Amino acid sequence: MVLSRAGVNEVVEEFTVTAKQVEQAAKYFEMEIASGLKKAPSSLQILKSYLRLPTGKETGEYLALDFGGTNVRALLVQLQGGTYQVVKKVKRPLISEKYDYTSAETKAEELFAFIAKVISEIAEPGKRYQLGHTFSFGTEQSELSDARLISWSKEIRVQGVEGEMVNALLERALSKGGLSGVVPVAILNDTVASALAAAYRNPAADIGSICGTGHNTTYMERRGDFAPMFVNLESGGFNRLPFTRYDVLLDGKSKCPGTQLLEKMVSGKYLGRLLQCVLETAFGIKASYEPDGKDLALILDVQNRKIEAVETLAQKLGAGKSQQAVEGLRLLTQALVTRSARLVAATYIGILRHMDMEAKNGHTVAVDGSLYQKMPGYAQEINRTLAEIIKEEQIKRITVRFEGDGSGIGAAIAAAIAVS
Ligand code: BGC
Repeated sequence: MVLSRAGVNEVVEEFTVTAKQVEQAAKYFEMEIASGLKKAPSSLQILKSYLRLPTGKETGEYLALDFGGTNVRALLVQLQGGTYQVVKKVKRPLISEKYDYTSAETKAEELFAFIAKVISEIAEPGKRYQLGHTFSFGTEQSELSDARLISWSKEIRVQGVEGEMVNALLERALSKGGLSGVVPVAILNDTVASALAAAYRNPAADIGSICGTGHNTTYMERRGDFAPMFVNLESGGFNRLPFTRYDVLLDGKSKCPGTQLLEKMVSGKYLGRLLQCVLETAFGIKASYEPDGKDLALILDVQNRKIEAVETLAQKLGAGKSQQAVEGLRLLTQALVTRSARLVAATYIGILRHMDMEAKNGHTVAVDGSLYQKMPGYAQEINRTLAEIIKEEQIKRITVRFEGDGSGIGAAIAAAIAVS
């Protein structure tokens, strides 16, 4: 079946988020933060990080571990007081042709043994290290040094970790792997890591966000009884949103239906799956191939015009390689990606209003993640949406900026804070 122009237009319309809807989502988001803070029912969580803004003077050498759901990264970082140097770094995927450390068949011990092995690639045996651990899932903390996993997201299902203390599992694996010199002293969410890395140089960076495989945001809560502290909102769970029938279908087929509803509309893990779902539901095109973020970026990359590669992809997706198919695919992908950026922007507006209604102070949102970094037009669409809703004299004080390597650097900063 072809991607008829009329059919494509109809779907694009379904995915369009109007300025009024952005405003509405922002308002609901702000309300959900307020409810969460009061411990009233909310689709957002207010998870304490036990971290506040760094001074920028933190120094020393730390090990950083970044466990995000796609890769495990270990870094040796030298903090130099506002600047840093990555001395060593290694990155290993959680899934390869030979193994899968994300599935329900994997046990906690196996996963953590793998993580310890990655750390051993850069840590010298017998040497003592303090380690900061960026663990990118919703966790409950009562101190900076350990965290209990509430539940997995991003389709990870490894047994025996939910409800457990994560750094305790890591410590056990490190000691079994002959690395008892490596001491985990801090654990933090990747959003918090991103904010810390940015705030190391710029104290206006009081919001951290990830637009990558998953999605989530943290902000510096200055008013709660525990304040000031970064709180992890687990904003991927936000659910007061204009859903389409495709969102409902995708959620129904996911491993944890009813959860992470914003994340399933906006993040890199799900956008390709959503496109596949649209092709099947609206156009009757069934393809076994699920496009990933890179594929979507290729479709939208009009500057490099890799027409042949896009045609091949269009064929793989069952749409054929005609000009109409390629153009239809581009319009559909654009609609999904634009919606993602607009909904994310709406959540930033909700947070900014909660923090500082009139935007009297400057705020920087530090964003990390492949979607934000690599999807053509994504960062621009976030800025465009903010400018559409926020008053002109206020938007001048708000910056959204890419913070690459935030997870590793933030983990090192958290470790430095922990031992200071
Ligand atoms: C997790 C968050 C994380 C985000 C980005 C979500 O699936 O629940 O904790 O910050 O992904 O990695």
